[in-house]
Amino acid sequence: MTLWGGRFAEPSDADLRALNDSIDFDKRMYAEDIAGSIAYARAIANAGIITAAEAATLVEGLRQVLAEFEAGTFVLQVADEDIHTAVERRLTELVGAVGGKLHTGRSRNDQVATDFRLWVAGAIDRTDALLRALQEALIAKAEPNLETLMPGYTHVQPAQPITVAHWLMSFFWMLARDRSRLQDAKRRLLVSPLGAGALAGTPFAVDRAALAAELGFTSVSQNSLDAVSDRDFAAELLFCLALAGTHLSRLAEDVIFYSNPLFGFITLNDRYSTGSSLMPQKRNADPMELARGKAGRLIGRLTGFLTTLKGLPSTYNKDLQEDKESVFDSVDTLDRLLPVIIAIVDTLNLNPDRMRAALGEDMLATDMADYLVRKGLPFRQAHHVVGQVVRLAAQEGVVMSALPLERLQALSPLFSDDVQSVFDFGASVARRQAVGGTAPEAVRVQIEAARAWLGAQ
Ligand code: ARG
Repeated sequence: MTLWGGRFAEPSDADLRALNDSIDFDKRMYAEDIAGSIAYARAIANAGIITAAEAATLVEGLRQVLAEFEAGTFVLQVADEDIHTAVERRLTELVGAVGGKLHTGRSRNDQVATDFRLWVAGAIDRTDALLRALQEALIAKAEPNLETLMPGYTHVQPAQPITVAHWLMSFFWMLARDRSRLQDAKRRLLVSPLGAGALAGTPFAVDRAALAAELGFTSVSQNSLDAVSDRDFAAELLFCLALAGTHLSRLAEDVIFYSNPLFGFITLNDRYSTGSSLMPQKRNADPMELARGKAGRLIGRLTGFLTTLKGLPSTYNKDLQEDKESVFDSVDTLDRLLPVIIAIVDTLNLNPDRMRAALGEDMLATDMADYLVRKGLPFRQAHHVVGQVVRLAAQEGVVMSALPLERLQALSPLFSDDVQSVFDFGASVARRQAVGGTAPEAVRVQIEAARAWLGAQ
């Protein structure tokens, strides 16, 4: 039996049911639905709507329903349109007609909004824990590589030498922002809609604040029309996950590049590489390509759901049922992706010799300009002079350090013997000591700041 069959002379069409029913996916919220109902049964008893004995019967019955879900013995019936219907149907089978009192003053509209908020709060905690594990993996890989040099790129063109630790830690801070966004979204979503009824509020004297507190909410909604249709929390979560996915995609892109034999900076562990069915030599970074690909999917879920929301009239509309598959899919996507990314970072083999060999003297051109600046030349002129040095070396087919001093002095009299000190990649890196720079000393401080950030979570 449906929850709403009384006014219809005919049962609903099977195709309509296939379209309308949400039980296939919203059964994931059984624990939240039952927790909400247990709290609600107590609240309506406190309001004098049912007796304490009836509430106890309902609570006991709901616990049995929960046990069946947990044991995998809950049997779905064809008429179970959604998780709310299924739980109430089974409860009534177990406890009899008193089961029909549970829904007094409540609507599936405030019920689903409550359940889903609780589910999203739990999902935020799980995703947050995975992101934290990735941050820890990055620190663990970075710390032994404070002095390991590698080329830094802008526009994918050789730019300046950096350290591997600095490269790895750059992703730590992206994830820190992702996590703080998730935690912020969680704070904002802990507003209880329960008691909003279908749209207009409940006519019964339910203590909404106590009900909210029992479920772990920090406040109650102030407008019932808004409460039954507010899905900002779902949209926020989808955005947080899409942006986290975008960060993972960028890490993936670096790993894909750096594991290409032309770079050869890193080798993926065998367990996290894939081969080709045709080309025996292949070692592909499929999981990283999937990370890059999944970012598109996460962004799609966000834009899809925002599009669902944008034209909705006030209060609950069935379009809102689209919230769950979007959110479940995005959460599941990161649930599958993050453990693999964490393991890839953990097991990443670095090839410092290849990184070192990829450092070209051109990447010290800025240091040469800074050398002239220290001798008093305005930076803009120094930039121009060193540009001429680079061109001269290219014309002569030699590296800059092989140019005779006189040739340099012809371009600027400020050059002297000590110019050779510029051609030292380690020294170039070590000079970048200001907070946030790539110098080993600065990155050590950065890692301390990262640990402090983790400690404050
Ligand atoms: N399955 C529905 C959803 O996810 C539950 C709420 C149904 N409410 C209604 N008035 N039809 O949104």
